[in-house]
Amino acid sequence: MCGIVGYTGRRRAVPIIIEGLRRLEYRGYDSAGVACRDDADNGRILRRRARGKLVRLEELLEDQDIRSTTGLGHTRWATHGAPSEDNAHPHCDCSGDLVVVHNGIIENHRSLKEELIAAGHCFSSDTDTEVLAHLIETELDGDLARAVRAALARVKGSFAIGVLWRGAADTLVAARRHSPLVIGVSDAGSHLASDIPALLPYTREVIFLNDDEMAVITSDSREIMTLSNGSPINREITTVDWNAAMAEKAGYKHFMLKEIFEQPEAVSNTIRGRVDPESGGITLPETGLDEKSAARISRITLLACGTSWHAALIARYWIEKWCRIPVEVDIASEFRYRSILIDANSLVVPISQSGETADTLAGMRRAMEMGARVVAICNVVGSTMTREADGTIYTHAGPEIGVASTKAFTSQLAALFLLTLHLGRLRGSIAPETAVRLAAALTELPLLMEEELRDLESRTMPVAEEFNRARDFIYLGRGMNFPVALEGALKLKEISYIHAEGYPAGELKHGPIALVDREMPILALLPRDPVYDKAVSNAEEVKARRGRLIVVGSRGDEKNLRELSRHVLVVPEIEEDLYPMLLSLPLQLLAYQIANLRGCDVDQPRNLAKSVTVE
Ligand code: AGP
Repeated sequence: MCGIVGYTGRRRAVPIIIEGLRRLEYRGYDSAGVACRDDADNGRILRRRARGKLVRLEELLEDQDIRSTTGLGHTRWATHGAPSEDNAHPHCDCSGDLVVVHNGIIENHRSLKEELIAAGHCFSSDTDTEVLAHLIETELDGDLARAVRAALARVKGSFAIGVLWRGAADTLVAARRHSPLVIGVSDAGSHLASDIPALLPYTREVIFLNDDEMAVITSDSREIMTLSNGSPINREITTVDWNAAMAEKAGYKHFMLKEIFEQPEAVSNTIRGRVDPESGGITLPETGLDEKSAARISRITLLACGTSWHAALIARYWIEKWCRIPVEVDIASEFRYRSILIDANSLVVPISQSGETADTLAGMRRAMEMGARVVAICNVVGSTMTREADGTIYTHAGPEIGVASTKAFTSQLAALFLLTLHLGRLRGSIAPETAVRLAAALTELPLLMEEELRDLESRTMPVAEEFNRARDFIYLGRGMNFPVALEGALKLKEISYIHAEGYPAGELKHGPIALVDREMPILALLPRDPVYDKAVSNAEEVKARRGRLIVVGSRGDEKNLRELSRHVLVVPEIEEDLYPMLLSLPLQLLAYQIANLRGCDVDQPRNLAKSVTVE
């Protein structure tokens, strides 16, 4: 999730671009760059880029007197190519006369790059974005908009782009598909941005671009058109009434709430280009595994902390079920000190949102010393874990600002399910028709998450209002939904400070049931899965002891669920393996709403840090 800013008008472009990037830095901060068209020097394109936070770029620009009034800027969240100056946007073509900034993922960038290199193009970065600059260059014939359309017609994936060309004074071209882009109209000229916060210092008059639309903007004109053939579109100007703080959170009260609602997009971006629902095929070259090396794996160890450990616990069910390989799941801080049985036939998968968690890094290093192949699951390109692992499957969840992990968790699950299918296909342990069924279910998941989230707040709020003064909570789940119960409990305790425990539903009667009384809220996960009847029996044990039951189950089963509790939350029906991604959503929102009602600091809970880089 990167930040794009563009401007053309009557004022100097660099200060406007830098101020805009500063307000988008939450979208990514691996590197930043700016490019301007120097009207005083025959339109020459000036480009300045710096690795690290925006302040590095500002330092670079301090002694520069760039008078240009047209330019583009970018703050990067790396997806392809580690954070570096060479990989920083804007990227240019061979001539240096055309530059592009981009937010998204070009899925077919490898094949396009090979074709362009064969045609004599030279590349200077590892990014997918640079391919766009060269592709547009090959189509340039004087009409920049047409060249951009022709180039994007060959692109698969997601993009929001800004293009600047020496041959077109006072002009920026923009286009979008599956990544946001908005145009601003001010007295100073025309603006382009990934998100509204970048525009607010100059205007509240905005034009939203929709998917597969493009725009040609000059200081006094904004033409919107279709990406397919340039047909004009008449788009009204919208006046936004957000303040800057609200805008950074896209109108949500907290980053955590925004990130809960970003999960369909995060999961969609994580699986994009990696799964073919028609054939059940999985594309994961990052693992470096082929049929031979996959067949040699005798044991898999999943290594993580906190929420990432819960993702590992869920993945264990999948991998043992579909790959028929024994799986150990270890809390990283324990793994490091155990006498572990790891060898060259072991696959170790450290899972980490940040890629900087000290315990997980230490465990990974120990596994590598013992000869294991290490394939990481991580959300931060260029983080320590990704630089040391043999390979990394990135979750493309974008920066997760809230300390309580949400979109990273469901994106980790999506990546782990991809790994399961990939291993199963390589080892021949998944029948082709089953692979197609599972791949199709995974492809449909983001839509079902979107559907579930649509009215979820109104459904969980009554529960939050009734239980936000509780002293304790117990979450129950069976099978692969036991780790979901652990995750629900962790979400609640880490942001609301209510003591909460997740338990295997079948374990309640072996002790914890003694805690059940008229005060104790017990949330039971009861999706229609193979262990449904058993889990319902456990919930009935609670009801018989007058426990305060909350049940979360499958849509269509409300009648049965209402016999257990008056607090019923349901999720769409889905392939049983994927229920954890859907069941997590009400648990995240419930924890958020309870914490909010208790006046807690949801985004930065006491005693916690987003990345635990100490042991
Ligand atoms: C999650 O809500 C917590 N903030 C925490 O448990 C986190 O999952 C854990 O510290 C691991 O972090 P990582 O995924 O960045 O390694």
